[in-house]
Amino acid sequence: MGDENAESSYVMHSDSELTRLTLQHEMIKDAMGGQLVIAPLDLRASSLQILDCCTADGVWIRELQSSLPPEVAKQHTFVGTDNEKSYFPHDPPKNTTYYVQDVHDPWPVEWSDRFDLVHQRLALACPGDEEATKSTIRDLIRMVKPEGWIQLVEFIEWTDDEDGPAWKDYTTCLCDMIAFIGSTVKHIDHVKDWFQDLGLVNVEEKVFEGNYGTRQDKMLQATAMKAVMMTATMILGVTSSLPQEMLRVSKDRIPNILTDLEKEMKADQTHAHWRYKVVWGRKPE
Ligand SMILES: C[S@@+](CC[C@H](N)C(=O)[O-])C[C@H]1O[C@@H](n2cnc3c(N)ncnc32)[C@H](O)[C@@H]1O
Repeated sequence: MGDENAESSYVMHSDSELTRLTLQHEMIKDAMGGQLVIAPLDLRASSLQILDCCTADGVWIRELQSSLPPEVAKQHTFVGTDNEKSYFPHDPPKNTTYYVQDVHDPWPVEWSDRFDLVHQRLALACPGDEEATKSTIRDLIRMVKPEGWIQLVEFIEWTDDEDGPAWKDYTTCLCDMIAFIGSTVKHIDHVKDWFQDLGLVNVEEKVFEGNYGTRQDKMLQATAMKAVMMTATMILGVTSSLPQEMLRVSKDRIPNILTDLEKEMKADQTHAHWRYKVVWGRKPE
C-alpha cells in the first residue's frame, strides 16, 4: 500500500475538502434518485465485501450502511481506500476499515477476486492519462470476485442551454483544470468499452442529471448553493494561475466568474445543471 506520510498532490486538497465532498455527495445522491448503487447487486445478500476506492472520509460507505437494515449492514465488510490518510474517519464501525492506497501503486494481492462490489466516484481523473486510467481500471476489476460488480460514477462535461453564463464558464474551468493536471473528464465516456474489452459482462451505463438551481426543496437548494460556491472558489482559484493556452475561458474573465456565479445562484430563477455518468459491469464466473 501507499506511503502514509506522503504529501497530498490532490489538486482539490484543502482544510474544507470534506465539507465540500459531503455537500457534493448530497447533490449526486439527489441526482441519482437517492440510489447509491445502480449495478443490480442484491445488497441484502449475506456477508458482502464492498470496496470504495478514493473514498475520502467514506461518506459513500456510511450512507450505504445507513440505507440498509442494520442487521444486513453489520454482516457486510466495507473497505475504503484513499491516498490521503487525514480524511479517514477516526472511529469506524468494526466491519469498516480504511487503508492508505494510491491508485498508482500495486494493490494487496490478497484482495484479488475478493469484492462483491468495487465502487469509485469522482476519482477517474486521479490516475492521469488514458494508459494510467486503464491500468487503474484493470486493477479495480482484478479485485472484483467472479459474479461480482464494479460501478464507476463520474461528472461529464455538459451544461443545459438555459444555464447561466457564469455556470457555463465555471464548468469549462473545471474541465480545463483537470486537463492541466494531465487527465480528462472524458475518460468515463470510454469506460463502457474498456469494461467490455477487459472481459466484463452485463456492462451498462446511465446518465443522471443534477439540478443545482432553483428547487421546490429549499434545503436542497441551499445545499446546492453551498456546494457550488465552495467548489467554484477552489477551482477558479487554481485556474486563475494556469497559463492562457491551457484555458478556453479568457484569463481576464476568471476573476469575475465567482461574483457572477453568486449572482446567478441567488437569482429568483436559477438554471444550473450538471450530469453524471454511471457505468457498471459484472465479472463473469
Ligand atoms: C473528488 S474526491 C472524491 C471522494 C469520494 N469518492 C466522493 O465521491 O465523495 C477524490 C478523492 O480521490 C483521492 N485521490 C486523489 N488522488 C489519488 C490517488 N492517486 N490515489 C488514491 N486516492 C486519490 C483524494 O484524496 C480524494 O479523497
